[in-house]
Amino acid sequence: MTRIISIVAGKGGVGKTFLTSNLAIALTELGKDVIAIDSNLTTPNLGIHLGIPLYPVTLQDVIKTKTKPHEALYRHPSGLRVLPAGIGVNDLRSIDPRGVQNTILDLLGSSDIMLLDSAAGLGKEGLVALESADEALFIVNPELPSVIDALKTAKLADQLGARKLGVVVNRIKGHKHEMSNAEISSLLNMPVVATLPEDRGVSESIASRTPFLHHKPHNELSYGIRKLASSMIGYDYAYKLPWYKRLLR
Ligand SMILES: Nc1ncnc2c1ncn2[C@@H]1O[C@H](COP(=O)(O)OP(=O)(O)OP(=O)(O)O)[C@@H](O)[C@H]1O
Ligand SMILES: [Mg+2]
Repeated sequence: MTRIISIVAGKGGVGKTFLTSNLAIALTELGKDVIAIDSNLTTPNLGIHLGIPLYPVTLQDVIKTKTKPHEALYRHPSGLRVLPAGIGVNDLRSIDPRGVQNTILDLLGSSDIMLLDSAAGLGKEGLVALESADEALFIVNPELPSVIDALKTAKLADQLGARKLGVVVNRIKGHKHEMSNAEISSLLNMPVVATLPEDRGVSESIASRTPFLHHKPHNELSYGIRKLASSMIGYDYAYKLPWYKRLLR
């Protein structure tokens, strides 16, 4: 059975697309057949994070024309399959985000996991990712506005019956004023399942069109994403940092 998991937040720019792309690669590395879907139709950038910004056929074509979802699936060099959204202005015209749900239904059974990158906010487009998924993985930055917005999304997830997998705290800089895991977990009433540090390598990886996991495979951030991927599928985390990294830790 295919697991449909949405990566959701509340606030924009917290790292949903970064997490979707790299988590999808980490799950693929663990032997799962994964399809990453860009359900952010108005400002899509999953393709950019994966190093392939332009695709000839996209999710918008599937929603608006008779194109079949399989015709818009692309194999990333990592083995992951991607269903990208179009980035052109024409792709915005007369598109109903609810078409995403039908597309997902059509793809059911053709992978172990579908990972959905969602749009910011809780408009029609943001909602569709929650409505389409059985499970929701939350992501926040360690600051109050981000967590408060995620709280609204968590309430919606409850109403829609999506199972909450927990919250990933991203872009931790180690500053005194940042919210602690305990505070975030108690406000959102869900466990913190991963803590991911701020890393300038993320912008470098996007500029060099290389997913972060491949750009910096042995650092703390990649380690955190791989560990999260393992726990999501019930595997023990066996990955070991190289000896020199372990010494520094
Ligand atoms: N751990 C990190 N360290 C450093 N930079 C990061 C980290 N995570 C994400 N970023 C940067 O933050 C920016 C926003 O990330 P991303 O696009 O994944 O957010 P988003 O939640 O998908 O945004 P949107 O709501 O606009 O879709 C990107 O420029 C990315 O490079
Ligand atoms: Mg995004």
